[in-house]
Amino acid sequence: IPDSLLDRDCTTLSRHVLQQLNSFGADAQDLSAIMNRIALAGKLIARRLSRAGLMADVLGFTGETNVQGESVKKMDVFANDVFISVFKQSGLVCRLASEEMENPYYIPENCPIGRYTLLYDPIDGSSNVDINLNVGSIFAIRQQQGEDLDGSASDLLTNGDQQIAAGYILYGPSTILVYSLGSGVHSFILDPSLGEFILAQENIRIPDHGPIYSTNEGNFWQWDEPLRDYTRYVHRHEGYTARYSGALVGDIHRILMQGGVFLYPGTEKNPDGKLRLLYETAPLGFLVEQAGGRASDGQKRLLDLIPAKLHQRTPAIIGSVEDVKLVESFISDH
Ligand code: AHG
Ligand code: MN
Ligand code: MN
Ligand code: MN
Repeated sequence: IPDSLLDRDCTTLSRHVLQQLNSFGADAQDLSAIMNRIALAGKLIARRLSRAGLMADVLGFTGETNVQGESVKKMDVFANDVFISVFKQSGLVCRLASEEMENPYYIPENCPIGRYTLLYDPIDGSSNVDINLNVGSIFAIRQQQGEDLDGSASDLLTNGDQQIAAGYILYGPSTILVYSLGSGVHSFILDPSLGEFILAQENIRIPDHGPIYSTNEGNFWQWDEPLRDYTRYVHRHEGYTARYSGALVGDIHRILMQGGVFLYPGTEKNPDGKLRLLYETAPLGFLVEQAGGRASDGQKRLLDLIPAKLHQRTPAIIGSVEDVKLVESFISDH
């Protein structure tokens, strides 16, 4: 077997994180342990999803409504709790901030020493769960700033450059984990026979321009004029192909691989759009920038935005530099 294959087979996620030791120092040990817990959460969720149709109490709704005003899927709750449980045993993470929880969840026994916070979207694309289409998990890791004595976790309300790591897990035909510690974007594929995420691609680069145009045009009627003008431009010019899965992780992964642009603009009804900054667009913006792409709200860099509240929403234009700039030019020309 060629060396490259042997080497790839034994490059697990935790080893890959440790290999970045020189740029992270002692934190690399912590980050390797944290990434290992995230990988375990991914395996537990992937396993559940693969049997969803066969087990009772996996598909469908809980009957609850979450802080987003969304009807909660049973998979949302299962995945949310998986992340909590894997970090309860880790000791490193004191707080977990999730789409599915109004306030951050504290793990008291970890809080004196645990200096890290996990921000996550446990199941992204919940609408796809019951129809066996791709869903994802999105995560970001931040270091706690200060003692958070009032339990408000207000130190999380800072810009996206405070993220020390971010990534996603895409539950598709294979389960792929894509992450960055701030030095490139790397992907790992779960080998179920090993139960390990094995390195697939290092230093992924997003093309400066690509053909993918990804947005829910069903919202066209709600968009502001600049976005409508942009859409009319796309309709008139060859070279784009529309791809939209309803799950942000899958749509962004396609664009990371092939190039293009994902748009979830604001509307009159929801000027801030639908996507949440702290655990959806900031982690993905971090990744796409690390891969040489661009992420903005149409006017400002996503990672410069400072949320007023934990579940702050933001318009999102994410993808290849040239394609994102084209969208921005329609907005700035107005
Ligand atoms: P979530 O399932 O975590 O609530 O996220 C759903 C998001 C995102 O995954 C996707 O891009 C977007 O909702 C789809 O929204 P529309 O159905 O309005 O297009
Ligand atoms: Mn949701
Ligand atoms: Mn989501
Ligand atoms: Mn979600």
